[in-house]
Amino acid sequence: MDKKKFYVTTPIYYVNDAPHIGHSYTTIAADTLARYKRMRDYDVFFLTGTDEHGQKIEKAAQANNENPIELADRMVERFKNLWKILGISNDDFIRTTENRHVKQVENVFNEMYENGDIYLGEYEGWYCIPCESFWTSSQLSSGLCPECRRSVEKIREKNYFFKLSKYQDVLLEYFEKHPDFIRPESRRNELHRRIVGGIDDISVSRAAVEWGIHVPMDKKHTIYVWVDALFNYITALGYHDSERLKRYWPANVHIIGKEILWFHGVVWPAMLMSLGIEAPYQIYAHGWWTLEGQKISKSLGNAIDPVKITDTYGIDTYRYFLLREVPFGLDGNFSYDALVNRINCDLGNDLGNLLHRTLTMIEKYRDGIVPEAERISTEGNELIERSKMLNDEVELAMNNLQFSKALEAIWDYIGLVNKYVEISKPWVLAKEVSAGEKLNEVLYNLVESIRIISLFILPFMPNTSDEIQKQLGLSSDDNSVKNKITWGGTKPGTRVCKGNPVFPRVEYSTSN
Ligand code: ME8
Ligand code: MG
Repeated sequence: MDKKKFYVTTPIYYVNDAPHIGHSYTTIAADTLARYKRMRDYDVFFLTGTDEHGQKIEKAAQANNENPIELADRMVERFKNLWKILGISNDDFIRTTENRHVKQVENVFNEMYENGDIYLGEYEGWYCIPCESFWTSSQLSSGLCPECRRSVEKIREKNYFFKLSKYQDVLLEYFEKHPDFIRPESRRNELHRRIVGGIDDISVSRAAVEWGIHVPMDKKHTIYVWVDALFNYITALGYHDSERLKRYWPANVHIIGKEILWFHGVVWPAMLMSLGIEAPYQIYAHGWWTLEGQKISKSLGNAIDPVKITDTYGIDTYRYFLLREVPFGLDGNFSYDALVNRINCDLGNDLGNLLHRTLTMIEKYRDGIVPEAERISTEGNELIERSKMLNDEVELAMNNLQFSKALEAIWDYIGLVNKYVEISKPWVLAKEVSAGEKLNEVLYNLVESIRIISLFILPFMPNTSDEIQKQLGLSSDDNSVKNKITWGGTKPGTRVCKGNPVFPRVEYSTSN
């Protein structure tokens, strides 16, 4: 196999509750990247899954009067169903309650114990159940969890520790040698400062928690849920000696939310170092969404269901909105107004209308057949030149996970094509008998630029991309044409197939 590999992951989500827009955001971003890389001919492995052990799930199940595994089984279906609706193209789905995971986590825990990095000690401090995090008194913020600002409980128990402190220097060295390890830059610097400030050993088992993977050499304890969870990224590949691991590890990028960067950027690489496994190439910590200005949480009663949103407003439109509205890495605010606005303007007016009027003109002036064209005009040549530049711009943006920047570049190009229609005035050319050649050129160039646009939007809006290509008359099995981003893929003589508008106008619906 000589294809280059690309391994991308999402966090594995807790199953105490149903998925909301935050979870869908990370998964859509990872999916878009995976689809983009596949389109660029990478051998992609895209992993997502669920985090099912620990006190948080144990408590949620108790409150529901069910077994943790019953709760997990129910919630996993909600996640899987949502990913299906959203067109998520993951190659595997890992559940931490699966045997393939449990066995390997026991193995790695054992290995770290045997090599002296795990030892028995006593923990006294605070614990935040919603975040599944240990905190010292000095880390608390007015007595509350510094991460989620909910109350913490005091715990004092004998448990196992991992010698994280031992890895301070090696981690700092790794950061120096791999300047792109943590993205965005500002978060990298913040984390780097924290490591320089000193890191303590961490607890890696819980004596008081029953719902988890038992510590192999001491069954009274369960393995700390974060240790259990992080290893999903390699147990899904079949650690220890699997071909899949050799092929895909190290991960090219773990995409996560900013609140779990400490675990991914410090604890995870240190444990891998302890096992003699390479660290991932990159961790990208994106920002947080609020909903109409409010923190998204079940307790506030404003958690929103992406299934409902996509039902009302569409799937690709939702994918587009999330990745276009906020630069990846920054925090953002979800509002229905902004969503409706993006759908009606960027999608409906700019792209949808361009397709619709182009196909209408081909039907009206050329009986629905894409004409053969000479390259004669400078405006036409500019479209061609700019499509090549677009290719480079999108590649650069996508390699830096700047989804909104890639979309901006694509929409700049769409703007240029719309301007081309206005300047060339095909409806005027159609009235002049001598302008036949010129009209052919304009119509061909329009179809061809829309074909190119349909390819660039494919990773973001797979259904729409397909639909546009169908309307352009490209058959879906005609991969040679479909996948070519270079100008000239459309064959003259193709019969277009105008359908319904791809982005019908939407109104803000107050039932939300
Ligand atoms: O932390 N805005 O799971 P989790 C943006 N099981 N992204 C958000 C978000 C928001 N408001 N809310 C959630 C866990 N997310 C652990 C992870 S990984 C080895 C274990 C997204 O269910 C974002 O990706 O709390 C965040 O990191 C993740 O969901 C947290 O999901
Ligand atoms: Mg969380």
